Amino acid sequence: MDLLRLTTAGSVDDGKSTLIGRLLLDSKAILEDQWEAVTRASKQRGDPYLDLALLTDGLRAEREQGITIDVAYRFFSTPRRKFIIADTPGHIQYTRNMVTGASTAELAIVLIDARNGVVTQSKRHGFLASLLQTPHILVAVNKMDLVDYSQAVFQAIVDEYRAFASKLTVQDITFIPISALQGDNVVNKSQTMPWYDGSTLLHHLENVNVGSSRNLVDFRFPVQMALRPHQDFRGFAGQIVSGTIACGEEVVVLPSGKTSSVRTITTLEGDLAEAVAGDSVVISLADEIDVSRGDMIVRRHNLPQSASQFECILCWMSEEPLNIRASYILQHTTRQVRAFVATLNYRIDVDTLHREQAETLHLNDIARVQVTTTQPLFYDPYQINRATGGFILIDPFTNNTVAAGMIRRRAQDLDDLAPAEPERRKSSNVVWEGSALTQAMREERNGHKGAVLWFTGLSGSGKSTIARLLERRLFAAGIHTFYLDGDTVRHGLNGDLGFTAEDRKENIRRVAEVARLAFEHGHIVICTFISPFAADRNFARSLLPAGLFLELYVKCDLEVVKRRDPKGLYARALRGEIAEFTGISSPYEAPEAADLVVETDVRSAEEIVEEVWEELLRRGIVAG
Ligand code: ADX
Repeated sequence: MDLLRLTTAGSVDDGKSTLIGRLLLDSKAILEDQWEAVTRASKQRGDPYLDLALLTDGLRAEREQGITIDVAYRFFSTPRRKFIIADTPGHIQYTRNMVTGASTAELAIVLIDARNGVVTQSKRHGFLASLLQTPHILVAVNKMDLVDYSQAVFQAIVDEYRAFASKLTVQDITFIPISALQGDNVVNKSQTMPWYDGSTLLHHLENVNVGSSRNLVDFRFPVQMALRPHQDFRGFAGQIVSGTIACGEEVVVLPSGKTSSVRTITTLEGDLAEAVAGDSVVISLADEIDVSRGDMIVRRHNLPQSASQFECILCWMSEEPLNIRASYILQHTTRQVRAFVATLNYRIDVDTLHREQAETLHLNDIARVQVTTTQPLFYDPYQINRATGGFILIDPFTNNTVAAGMIRRRAQDLDDLAPAEPERRKSSNVVWEGSALTQAMREERNGHKGAVLWFTGLSGSGKSTIARLLERRLFAAGIHTFYLDGDTVRHGLNGDLGFTAEDRKENIRRVAEVARLAFEHGHIVICTFISPFAADRNFARSLLPAGLFLELYVKCDLEVVKRRDPKGLYARALRGEIAEFTGISSPYEAPEAADLVVETDVRSAEEIVEEVWEELLRRGIVAG
């Protein structure tokens, strides 16, 4: 029999507890005597709506005695399916409920009080469910009895919520009008809403497709503890959070990188040949290697990514606002590391989904941030693995969970482009200072990506003519340009350089670095340099992300440029008045794999500019 994990979102006022009580009662998951006791106890309170709520709250109170628990899991089953409902005590913030419960849930019930209609909280729940990638959302429009079972009221809520949800990435959304108190459309079909011909809530829960969100490909086993019950056995206990594993398969232990193979997979029920996501097992390896809590065992040819800077979505769930750059404990799978929020990119307005500038985060805020950890984490983007892509932040002083995060990818900001290989600094006493603004923010505002258009070709081939025309074309299209030309920079920045191979190399090195800085600031950088040596051009390319450095070969026959000779330099070089003149007394290494070759002796500058524009469009650097 399969299992559906679901989470409920809504406050007690929305009838959450009543709904759970109703589900448990009508599906006969509650014993009659428990029910009796609850009805008796609630008699004094006078509010019939509380009856069923008391039932669940009562059960909860029992459960909570003496222990601190964030999320209570309620189990029930019908002949068709088993259900686990993640539920939290009413006083705990719903964000936390959603985030902790929903990270494994396959369905989220968003409760809306029919009398109040769609409120910010209902949107927040849907938004969180979409961020958490809960595959199914069920909007239960509750308390239909209090709006005379009105179809118009229900339809208006459906329309409004659908319009909102269309802006989210929700795979599946269903609306059901119910009265948890009266039992309409919860387990039994309502007699009072003949206009509704959809299924009841329980019927939907029993039939919704499950398992679609489980990652069964990437084997990830975060180790909870190392066991050594006796001398001859050493095993590692934990839960397989995704993927499958079989005895004999080759594995790697992270972070050590030591390899081995699976010897045995043990459960309480005995040994297994193979185990899958969700199984709690003890794995022993063929080799004696050091493994401890917080390590992760993965399959040898399917490794997670590793990084210490991440772009994340953060849901803030503490009364204490975020202290940017303060150190928090980041719990990721079974591992804890120190971390801080390096950048708060923007906060998301839950009502409109617009981005807002923010200095800090308050309770229930949702934001896009960059998080830095003191040690690298082994992760997968949340999108492909909810278990290894999610984390929580814990306040080191109070030990409270203050935020939940979802890793989108490793940080793509300036730090990410910080000198890696080869090392380009001479002094080890310089520290990379990223900007508070990220490249993504600039590109977002500019409406285009940054890129470097590197024109190479003989002197007089027409590089500058094309570049100037192109710059005007881009400027007219509202694009932020930055132009670097050989003759110009040689008047200032590179005024100390001549034309020996060594000086040309230094010339290109400097301008390539400048081009990169301008690129990082969101510009489309146009460079026109003879740059005769392939190695120098390749260096420039190496500074930029793939696809955003375009080498444009301005091809023109040497005889043609000699005839054109706009500056009279070829004539002088031919007379021997200029040493190491490219094409005459110094070589030009034509590009072998230019991104674009343009021939100025056969096409007009206007045509070439159009061709470059098309290429920028094709690469998505500019939008049409
Ligand atoms: S590069 O070779 O180092 O890339 P760059 O593009 O900066 O050259 O400068 C080339 C310009 O410098 C030419 O357009 C020309 O006007 C001028 N120039 C002066 N001397 C030389 C020379 N020996 N070789 C090439 N260009 C020269």
